[in-house]
Amino acid sequence: MGAIRATFCVQPVFGLVTPSEKAAALEFDLWAESGRDASMAEGHRSATEAVTSQWVLNADSQVLDVGCGNGWAVRSLVERGAAKGYGIDISPKMIAAAKAATSGDERYDFQVAAAERTPFSDGQMSHILNVESLYYYPDPAVALQEWARICRIGGHLSIMVDLYLESPATHTWINALDVDVHLLSTADILAMAKAAGWSKLNAISVKDPRPMADEASFKTGPYWPSYAMYKAYRETGSLLIYGQR
Ligand SMILES: C[S@@+](CC[C@H](N)C(=O)[O-])C[C@H]1O[C@@H](n2cnc3c(N)ncnc32)[C@H](O)[C@@H]1O
Repeated sequence: MGAIRATFCVQPVFGLVTPSEKAAALEFDLWAESGRDASMAEGHRSATEAVTSQWVLNADSQVLDVGCGNGWAVRSLVERGAAKGYGIDISPKMIAAAKAATSGDERYDFQVAAAERTPFSDGQMSHILNVESLYYYPDPAVALQEWARICRIGGHLSIMVDLYLESPATHTWINALDVDVHLLSTADILAMAKAAGWSKLNAISVKDPRPMADEASFKTGPYWPSYAMYKAYRETGSLLIYGQR
């Protein structure tokens, strides 16, 4: 893990587009239908666990994953000891997959909802997770304020993103994706979180421990126009921002 310093940032382009909740719901329904929810889970697991594995989870823990996809992270946090696991996502088909994997188990609650308008009460959550989802929201600053409202004082926040300003190899995804997204910098996310009321904020980069694809069998495409870009992405790693309410 390496520290990310805000001094790495160049001029952010955050704010030039407004992502659409409706477009994200339609797009991620397609991803769920084609099974991409499962491959995402595998791709995001190790970086996410770099912070969440340090969370102390017990009978008092109410954990929420915002943009939970098929609910893999919620299941893993409940299996580790959280009393209740909540997941919200804008995609009805992602939520259907999450519900199907936990049906009849009252430790879970999955709902279709927007990150900026959650159905939870003030101070309800002890831990809030957000994995590769923040840059799809129309207004990430509003989402961070909403999570501060529903998190209890002393509660924990962990955000993971792979597409961010200081990882230039991922910027091709902006055109490869069929929906508009924000290009956020580490400093943007830290500043929005601080303004929303989160404290003890920290940013680190985490590299995927899985072996890299070898160059001979690597297939280029819209996300990876060259092997060099894939390699640069793996060398830069995921951005993790964490803090406390
Ligand atoms: C790249 S996927 C990541 C899913 C999951 N966190 C994972 O790691 O597998 C992004 C997720 O964010 C959800 N999403 C996008 N915009 C959203 C919004 N405004 N509110 C809630 N969820 C949203 C998508 O439907 C999608 O499931």
